[in-house]
Amino acid sequence: MSPLISLTWHDHVTGRAGYLVVDRLVRGVSSGGLRMREGCSLDEVTGLARGMTMKEALHYNDDPAARYIPLGGAKGGIDCDPRDPAAYGILVRYLRAVRPYIETVWTMGEDLGLTQDVVDKAAAEAGLVSTVQAIHPLLDDEAAARRRLADAFAVQVDGIGLDELAGGCGVAESALTALDRAGVPYGGTRVAVQGLGTMGGATARFLSRAGLKVVAVADVKGTIACPAGLDVEALLAARDAFGTVDRAALRPGDRELPGEAWLSVDAEILVPAAVSYAIDTANQARITARWIVEAANMPVLPEAEELLAARGITVLPDVVVNSGTNAWWWWTLFGDIGPDADEAFAHTRRSMRALTELTLQRAEAAGTTPRAAAHAIAADRLPLIAERFGHYR
Ligand SMILES: NC(=O)c1ccc[n+]([C@@H]2O[C@H](COP(=O)([O-])OP(=O)(O)OC[C@H]3O[C@@H](n4cnc5c(N)ncnc54)[C@H](O)[C@@H]3O)[C@@H](O)[C@H]2O)c1
Repeated sequence: MSPLISLTWHDHVTGRAGYLVVDRLVRGVSSGGLRMREGCSLDEVTGLARGMTMKEALHYNDDPAARYIPLGGAKGGIDCDPRDPAAYGILVRYLRAVRPYIETVWTMGEDLGLTQDVVDKAAAEAGLVSTVQAIHPLLDDEAAARRRLADAFAVQVDGIGLDELAGGCGVAESALTALDRAGVPYGGTRVAVQGLGTMGGATARFLSRAGLKVVAVADVKGTIACPAGLDVEALLAARDAFGTVDRAALRPGDRELPGEAWLSVDAEILVPAAVSYAIDTANQARITARWIVEAANMPVLPEAEELLAARGITVLPDVVVNSGTNAWWWWTLFGDIGPDADEAFAHTRRSMRALTELTLQRAEAAGTTPRAAAHAIAADRLPLIAERFGHYR
């Protein structure tokens, strides 16, 4: 199905392209972040917007006590390296251009290449009240809801903002659920992560705190590895604003390896948490892990996933695994949880465990991949959502 809105923008100063795709509206609103990366394409943004529709639907439940009711899916993208000195100006001009959509139908936030602080600053410069202002008419008590979200954004846990931790908490819980189902103990289970930004950084923290051993992490500069286990907190503390680790923080036993080395280290779990399309038909052959947990969006190409499945390697799909960030925003804004880290992590863990269990059970029963099972669950729910809240497409 084609998306409801699909537009391409060109910056009049630099000629750079930006995209906005609204896949679907629910109650007149859609949700999805904005990414900035060199090479970002309309196809990529269209796929990501579709994924957001699924993530929203996967968190739909008819529990009358639930206050967050899922929205439609959307995504924005800007084709520019976020470290380019012109990037911030392009971001402001993009937001100014798409401002009518953000004011009315597109609630957005940070994604790859951007942090929420930068998005908020640019949005204010572009004349926006908030990046999620389209949702304000749906709130019972707008002032209280906005205060709750602002308070939640101010919460820090051991040097990292709660908003940057909720998603990784969910990714880690999905991985732990798969280990529990397979009867594999956490202690000694090895993990390799691509990307140590918002998602990869938080996932590495939660998995190492659960007792797993993070043996490799990759960022734009290459892979850092230590078979005995890396000092995750030291690496997290040595990141710059783009998630690049200062190599001065490495210990004598840590080794620096090429960019793709994270794929083939000895580990039971791989967590791609950086770019889309990271695992393709060629490099999948080097993977020996048992699980690939998609913290990033669309990191495994479909043809690669077929080959991995044939080799008994399970991919836990992005639409399930990384859906916790988006859900956390809404649980907080709608008031399912307060601005408190323990409450947020407990709710995230409970929800992500239930969703991962449901997905894996359905996959097992139907003899499909977990991704096919997740898509089937979303496909079952989308008509129910449209029936309950109306058709907007
Ligand atoms: N931030 C969110 O709220 C959120 C939520 C759900 C999914 N995601 C997805 O997670 C992924 C990462 O997003 P993020 O917000 O954590 O990004 P980020 O910008 O915070 O961090 C990106 C990390 O990936 C590394 N990286 C970039 N290109 C790389 C490459 N070619 N090879 C190796 N490492 C590379 C960077 O050095 C950095 O460590 C994206 O696919 C994004 O769509 C993000």
